[in-house]
Amino acid sequence: MSVPTTMKAVVVEQTGGPEVLQFKTSHPVPVPQAGQLLVRNNISGVNYIDTYFRTGLYASPKPEILGREGAGTVAALGPETTGFQVGDRVAWLAINGYAEFTAVSAAKAVKIPEGISDEDVMASFLSGLTVLAFAKETYHVQKGDWVLLHAAAGGAGFLMTQILKSIGAKVIGTAGGAEKCALVKSLGADVVIDYRSEEGKDWVKLVKEATGGRGVDVVYDSVGKDTWEGSLEAVKRKGTIVWFGNASGPVPPLPLPYVFVSIMLSGLYADNILLANSRPSVSRSLARLSSGTLRLVRSLSTTRMSYSAC
Ligand SMILES: NC(=O)c1ccc[n+]([C@@H]2O[C@H](COP(=O)([O-])OP(=O)(O)OC[C@H]3O[C@@H](n4cnc5c(N)ncnc54)[C@H](OP(=O)(O)O)[C@@H]3O)[C@@H](O)[C@H]2O)c1
Repeated sequence: MSVPTTMKAVVVEQTGGPEVLQFKTSHPVPVPQAGQLLVRNNISGVNYIDTYFRTGLYASPKPEILGREGAGTVAALGPETTGFQVGDRVAWLAINGYAEFTAVSAAKAVKIPEGISDEDVMASFLSGLTVLAFAKETYHVQKGDWVLLHAAAGGAGFLMTQILKSIGAKVIGTAGGAEKCALVKSLGADVVIDYRSEEGKDWVKLVKEATGGRGVDVVYDSVGKDTWEGSLEAVKRKGTIVWFGNASGPVPPLPLPYVFVSIMLSGLYADNILLANSRPSVSRSLARLSSGTLRLVRSLSTTRMSYSAC
């Protein structure tokens, strides 16, 4: 496979709003180093976390090509890279995804199982692996558990609602607006709260009522600043809060009294899932996520290399 010396890429030279994204047409193609693959991206995932690196909420060296996942074909191998061949179809979780080519460590790539399209992989890879790990590892959700899931209509929440229901959990999903709430209900959530409506503003009270005053076994909170203190109220004694994002802004410091009600705090970063699990296990998860048993939000979470959604 011939590899050009320059490529199209979306580069950020300084932190800021969407206006700092620059579309370059002759950015240097990276040279794969030892243990790396050079992937010709067919599709790049666009994720919420990209905005954290763009705005500087999460630190990263600039200039930077944003984007933390992609799917495509191996175009070249770095020295001593094993386990892959030029031409293999792969999905990866790393950095520099908004580009035609990305050099990634082989440890952060997985072959795409037969019969799964790149679009379905990107609609379920970073978000899907993350929510599977949240449901099975960060807190092991059991049948009958009460679970509070914020932003249940978002990319991660949409998949998470379906996975929680497949386990048999009782799901309280929050979402903003009637349309999103109807979507969450259609995924099988037991209780849906529009946390932007007048009634839903007191969502902690509604959660307590739904759980007979006890609170939920686990909260999955990716909204951050706006929901954090409510999440601390809504969880049961010795319950767990899994914090995994800052959609509304960073969470404030934990008020000390909450330490005394024995709340467990947990979190996880998607990148580590590939490193912590065996390749066959990741491939099985990918096949399960993309097999048609889950509804996927393709057009919202992915974009082709035209960068139209960047
Ligand atoms: N730790 C990890 O590895 C990992 C992996 C994947 C995702 N995440 C996190 O999960 C969250 C969701 O990611 P996603 O890709 O699913 O994003 P998404 O589809 O854009 O969903 C984000 C949702 O957050 C809600 N939200 C609440 N306050 C908001 C605000 N001020 N601005 C924008 N949205 C707001 C919105 O739902 P409503 O309108 O219903 O409120 C929105 O749908 C993000 O915080 C992301 O960082 C973390």
